[in-house]
Amino acid sequence: MLTKPPVSRQITDAYNNIFIAETKIIVNFEKILGKGSTATVYAAVFEESKSVTKQIAIKIPIQTRMDYFEEFCHELKITTILKNHSTICAATSWTLYRELPCLIFEKMDTDLLSFVKRYNEPQNVEEFPPTKLFLQFLWQISDALNFIASKKLVHRDVAARNILIAYPNIAKISDFGLCSEFDESSSMYLSSLYKKLPIKWLPIESLSERIFTEKSDVWSFGILMFEIWTKGELPYKNLNYNEQLEFLKSGQRLSVPNEMRDDIAAIMISCWNEKQNLRPTFKEIKQSIENILEKETVNYGYLFYKSEE
Ligand SMILES: Nc1ncnc2c1ncn2[C@@H]1O[C@H](COP(=O)(O)OP(=O)(O)O)[C@@H](O)[C@H]1O
Ligand SMILES: [Mg+2]
Repeated sequence: MLTKPPVSRQITDAYNNIFIAETKIIVNFEKILGKGSTATVYAAVFEESKSVTKQIAIKIPIQTRMDYFEEFCHELKITTILKNHSTICAATSWTLYRELPCLIFEKMDTDLLSFVKRYNEPQNVEEFPPTKLFLQFLWQISDALNFIASKKLVHRDVAARNILIAYPNIAKISDFGLCSEFDESSSMYLSSLYKKLPIKWLPIESLSERIFTEKSDVWSFGILMFEIWTKGELPYKNLNYNEQLEFLKSGQRLSVPNEMRDDIAAIMISCWNEKQNLRPTFKEIKQSIENILEKETVNYGYLFYKSEE
């Protein structure tokens, strides 16, 4: 049995202004919003006052993890640097729930992985791919990651499971558990050996040298595009770690999904350039998506006009 570490005075003092007493929170344990590798997220109600209540999401750490308290403090710190950005779902507050430190977020409807997996269901008759919607999601995600890079941070866990969706078309990036500050002079972060990393989303330099930069997040963004257009397929599903590394080092890459258009595939492929400096920045990705979206809108207008004739 693990004993729970006391919450350090330092943290409680620094973030006292966003602390909520557990008596004001009612957790609905029947309603799991999602499970990650470090925590389970439940729907809850925050009773702000007698007359004001808010629907929230509460991230309760998996207690058996030795380092959950350290991870909580890390995520709390990062999340407050990133708050108030429209395409980021950062914690708004925190609480001690049954003595466990928990982060509190606005409640979103689903995550992007669950969202795209729904298109595999036989009863789903919606058109696939909904290109404009997917581009809107990608625009918001690249906007968030451009902002994160501007704060000298690397997210390190850019994947469909960590993008939250509010219907009909809002996407926000979340899960700052692995997010780290990079060194100002080298613009890179050298990871310690022991963190559990999302292998299938990482580029060669992160896998073999533990180097993380904006450009490793860009690579993961390309994998996220692959996840969307394959309706949530696991990348390199038949390869183990060593086979994946060899596959990538020999210059091979994931295949372009059948239903992905060439102009969109070009962005995805550019994210997987072996040379980091030849991969686009998030600012450039955002611009490319904007250009395609503009054309889409013009085309829609044109089709609409034609059909009215
Ligand atoms: N604010 C939220 N609203 C709705 N669902 C959420 C929210 N935050 C997280 N989730 C769900 O919970 C899952 C796990 O949360 P996450 O922060 O990614 O935890 P972990 O660090 O363990 O991966 C997400 O993939 C998502 O499905
Ligand atoms: Mg996660």
